[in-house]
Amino acid sequence: MTAPTDGGPAAHLREQLADRLQGVGLRSVAWRAAVTAVPRESFVPDGFFRRGNSPRGTVWTPVTPVTEGREAWLEEVYADETLVTQLDGGVHPGDVDGPVPGSPTSSSTLPSLVVRMLEDLDPKDGDHVLEIGTGTGYSTALMCHRLGSDHVTSIEYDPAAAARARTAITTAGYTPRLIQGDGLLGDPNGAPYDHLIATCSVRTIPDAWLRQVRLGGTILTTLSGWLYGSGLVHLTVGENGTAEGTFLPGTVSFMIARPQAAPDLGDVSDLLKQPADERPARHGPEVLRDWVPLFLAQLAAPGAQYLGTRVAGGPRLIHAIDIRDGSFATLVPDDLGGTFRVDQGGPTRLWDDIEAAIDVWQAAGSPPQTAFTLGLSAAGQRVWLDTPDRPSWVLPT
Ligand SMILES: C[S@@+](CC[C@H](N)C(=O)[O-])C[C@H]1O[C@@H](n2cnc3c(N)ncnc32)[C@H](O)[C@@H]1O
Repeated sequence: MTAPTDGGPAAHLREQLADRLQGVGLRSVAWRAAVTAVPRESFVPDGFFRRGNSPRGTVWTPVTPVTEGREAWLEEVYADETLVTQLDGGVHPGDVDGPVPGSPTSSSTLPSLVVRMLEDLDPKDGDHVLEIGTGTGYSTALMCHRLGSDHVTSIEYDPAAAARARTAITTAGYTPRLIQGDGLLGDPNGAPYDHLIATCSVRTIPDAWLRQVRLGGTILTTLSGWLYGSGLVHLTVGENGTAEGTFLPGTVSFMIARPQAAPDLGDVSDLLKQPADERPARHGPEVLRDWVPLFLAQLAAPGAQYLGTRVAGGPRLIHAIDIRDGSFATLVPDDLGGTFRVDQGGPTRLWDDIEAAIDVWQAAGSPPQTAFTLGLSAAGQRVWLDTPDRPSWVLPT
């Protein structure tokens, strides 16, 4: 159950990391013991990517023991930072020599967030946990240390990440059940589980998760969507396919589960030239920036995606676009940039729906995300504010 510890600089760095996380995610002796035992460097053996800027946009530079020198590299591995380990579903730090463009598709999550979620999940001795999104395997290993490998199953969608995680987890001395596949389908063969924890986000809770977690068990996941709104929710499973739970504090976000990723927007220039109704906007683009308003906007317009454009010499325009039915809302600033006009086209008035949700929230006193609850029943999945009889938003199916 215990990872090999070297007693050298890495062991010292693990202690330092645990000290730093104390009160910032880490709350218990049991999880502290896991943090001080599991060698994070083993889960990023060929390094990670550091984000940077170039004239052509974001680039990612490989950070490896060779580029940095082992001691400096180890210090970075034990920073409370997310370590991006894969770009575009296939590029790893060992594959490239210098900065490359790309989008992160796998990582070792911010340690303070990993332990905070493990503390929130709070599995007890003997509990069986299903993890969705093995990633590097670091969080899987922490759970193996705490609960014993026989009590942990982890599913990773990406074949290359799954293979790397298997090697790292095995090398660190743990033997959980590891599955390469779609975590949205869960693990029927290992069910029932006491808890499910997802380190990728979902737009809607998969039925399989509900079926595979026992009555009274819990599901901890981020609910996200195509506008990049997000919220961490802790559900308790009830009878007959029901579950309910409130959103937890904090601004927690994860990459979306791959099968639920947004459809490609493609070239929308013709779509945005379609006829549109114009009116003054009551709420501007800040709705798509601020944490709780963005979450609400996404609940109100779950098919919408964000796009910013600028025509030469013109103002920056913010669009919400539902590419599936061709609906769009474009926020156009006035000359002084203080107020906005909204142009809406297609079958759905996206901005009307978004503003209505913001109105409900503001009428309730603009409460934090913890005032929202997610409820699942045979009738569907709904998020409500304060009490279930208040206006609510149905999650996409
Ligand atoms: C943020 S990383 C996981 C971090 C990991 N727990 C760690 O500590 O290293 C998210 C992972 O979820 C995986 N993922 C995305 N969609 C998935 C799905 N449907 N089923 C299982 N894994 C998925 C991604 O490939 C990625 O490796």
